[in-house]
Amino acid sequence: MRPSVFITRKLPEEMVAPLREKFEVRMWDSDISAVRRSVLMDEIAQVDALWTVVSDRIDRELLETAGPLKVITNMGVGFNNIDINAAKDKGIIVTNTPDVLTETTADLAFALLLATARRLNRAERELRHGGWMSWTPMGFTGMDVGGKTLGIIGMGRIGEAVMRRASGFNMRVLYHNRSRKDQVEQKYGCEYVELEQLLERADHVVVLAPLTEQTAGMIGQRELGLMKKTATLISMSRGGIIDEDALYEALINETIWGAGLDVWEKEPVSKHHPLLTLPSVTALPHIGSATIETRKAMMRMNADAILDVLEGREPDNRVV
Ligand code: DGY
Repeated sequence: MRPSVFITRKLPEEMVAPLREKFEVRMWDSDISAVRRSVLMDEIAQVDALWTVVSDRIDRELLETAGPLKVITNMGVGFNNIDINAAKDKGIIVTNTPDVLTETTADLAFALLLATARRLNRAERELRHGGWMSWTPMGFTGMDVGGKTLGIIGMGRIGEAVMRRASGFNMRVLYHNRSRKDQVEQKYGCEYVELEQLLERADHVVVLAPLTEQTAGMIGQRELGLMKKTATLISMSRGGIIDEDALYEALINETIWGAGLDVWEKEPVSKHHPLLTLPSVTALPHIGSATIETRKAMMRMNADAILDVLEGREPDNRVV
């Protein structure tokens, strides 16, 4: 019997072809709606490899039912959707897809920063709805980005890539991270500061930290209260780091200028979410890595990880 693979989303056939040559491959039949938990339960009990996406919750209860499962490959650099300790206890390898999405995600972080600071969504919406009456001296005005101070929370690969973009905009960069990065400081001349200082001094703040027990709820009412009234907050890594209720209060009370959100506490976000009613919010549906080139590169990494493990090789990008 050939080893079997289950993929939790319908993927382009060309990306799955290398696996089909060697293994029995089954795929969930939609690329939009999430796989049903009961199906995942059934599959995990049978398959040798599981290919997941970042919105699949792979918890201990599910992992306890795993049969011959040897590898889970997650389509994303983040893997907070998988209970890593439970996978480790079961001796299951977990891999992710770092590096290939760094530049694409940094592009989107910068796009979201510019769009939020200049309130592009509001200007476009008004134009489309006939709200552009004339060129007005103070109409549609936003905040400058070039020459300002950028605060980066979470200085990993994507943080560095955002910083490279910021240098083209002549920005001073402050950063906060679990640990100091001496080499990065020397290379780019950025300054390490405590979180409170970063929030007080930065004109624009980009959150790129992973969601962990330490970072969950890291930006709440107190932290938002430290930010400048003219500051923007950009959320690019995972929802759950910023307290959305506190953010709504800060925006409605105009204690910060705006927020650009690509990630949300609960995804997919409801169209009735209070933050979506505010013109100071630029909202995106978790598309940091969403270019055709990058998504295909991520899929190639996932397919390679399965080939490696099922053929007895050590995979790249192993997280446990
Ligand atoms: C990641 O890679 O973790 C992203 O959130 C998926 O686009």
